[in-house]
Amino acid sequence: MKFKKNILCIGAGYVGGPTMAMIAYKCPPYRVTVVDINPSRIAEWNSDDLPIYEPGLDEIVKATRGKNLFFSTDIEGGIRDNDIIFVSVNTPTKTFGAGAGMAADLQYWEKTARQILQYSESSKIVIEKSTLPVKTALAMEKILNYTKNSVSFDVLSNPEFLAEGSAVKDLENPDRILIGCRDTKSGLAARETLVEIYANWVPREKIITSNIWSSELSKIVSNAFLAQRISSINAISALCEKTDADITEVSKAVGMDSRIGSKFLSASVGFGGSCFKKDILNLVYLCQHYSLHEVADYWESVVRINQYQQERFILNMLTTMFNTLAGKRICLFGFAFKANTGDTRESPAIYITRRLLEEKAEIVITDPKALKNAKADMTGMEGKVSFVEDPYKAAEGCHAIAILTEWDVYRNLDFQKIYDTMTKPASIFDGRNIIDHKRCFDIGFNVYPTGKPALTHS
Ligand code: NAD
Ligand code: UGA
Repeated sequence: MKFKKNILCIGAGYVGGPTMAMIAYKCPPYRVTVVDINPSRIAEWNSDDLPIYEPGLDEIVKATRGKNLFFSTDIEGGIRDNDIIFVSVNTPTKTFGAGAGMAADLQYWEKTARQILQYSESSKIVIEKSTLPVKTALAMEKILNYTKNSVSFDVLSNPEFLAEGSAVKDLENPDRILIGCRDTKSGLAARETLVEIYANWVPREKIITSNIWSSELSKIVSNAFLAQRISSINAISALCEKTDADITEVSKAVGMDSRIGSKFLSASVGFGGSCFKKDILNLVYLCQHYSLHEVADYWESVVRINQYQQERFILNMLTTMFNTLAGKRICLFGFAFKANTGDTRESPAIYITRRLLEEKAEIVITDPKALKNAKADMTGMEGKVSFVEDPYKAAEGCHAIAILTEWDVYRNLDFQKIYDTMTKPASIFDGRNIIDHKRCFDIGFNVYPTGKPALTHS
């Protein structure tokens, strides 16, 4: 069958897989291929057990795979046969050399650019889907323009704004699609090609365009603003705990101001996920590079408050449990960095587990979707850790429960049943404020919410 467009995506991760599945689903006349260097990831995409858990994803992959959506390890063939190439490889924080711990590690990105140049036999549109520092497109263009024959490349920036756990919904109904391009004839033509793809299901007024550098920067700034709201409310949660104010009430009152808005004002044990910290540190590094030290310090404080919030959670557990956790069993309800995903990258649960183990506590981890990743995260960590699927069994014999992920299933558990099997005094530390605190207190628990007065039996 002859397809209207042939689209390739390099990188079959949390972004590449769902994004391409959505394009294939919404655009049956297009052939979409997703390639990756990791053969086991590709095998999983081709199986009934997809490598990532996302509500609704199974259905759209099943509807398209083998028809107009293909997963493959043939990167060379993919580049040769497709004229529109999304690049969605990982761009983690650099762990070595200059900028270690802050700058983006662009090695995977650059390798991809060189592969595109090496295998291209015709002109291509190359689309930055990964989150990248401003001016990365320039480096991409420079690499690609060491070109042979008449092959030419147009680089576009098209950052992805989906959130994990709601990826399918976000892709189907995005707040906006942003496309940055060079102001040249071929740049504008390439942009139109990409606009046409999205216009198959996204209203035109939601597809916005900008210069390429604004597009790259807007992605990082969006994440920085979102993370800043969480650090702002978390900072105030510490003050609430000292003053008997209630963070949920404060958040509601503040968020009802339509200029502020109510979203992303839930106090928590801290934000996690593979991107917020990395992207803010990237922004900080960029500001430092341009000697904007005050600006860099401002944004770095968002990450510092996030760290503080996690450490505060641990110290609260320690001090309220008689200043010793040694030998105590603590059950973690949730290990994923947020609900509705199995992803644990940068999850506060990792730091909290490490700190609890340092205090010589015994840890029992339960999570509906993230136990496989949690086990991998705990590899090599010293101390007693066990993994139990059933939250009731996980809490048996424990001195405390720490709620770290806002899974719905934890909201309405039978806490009387749980309390009865725990060691007394039994405590609950609610790092997500999702359970009925008064009810748990009445059952007999000492309850420590986030940003609200503790409810304790003296
Ligand atoms: P990921 O680690 O899940 O996936 C990246 C994939 O790229 C991996 O499977 C890896 O094997 C593959 N890869 C690396 N180098 C390759 C190469 N040379 N050739 C082929 N494949 C290669 O990462 P992700 O979460 O999908 O994130 C990708 C990018 O998207 C990052 O820049 C991230 O900041 C950004 N982003 C992520 C999210 C999210 O929710 N995870 C949302 C928006 C933007
Ligand atoms: C975030 C952004 O929301 C996406 O727009 C962006 O595309 C993505 O990062 C990215 O670039 O990777 P994600 O990290 O998947 O998406 O999930 P969020 O819903 O943003 O949650 C991030 C963290 O903040 C989670 O740990 C969550 O529990 C926490 N959070 C969120 C709070 O603690 N309080 C809130 O009010 C909201």
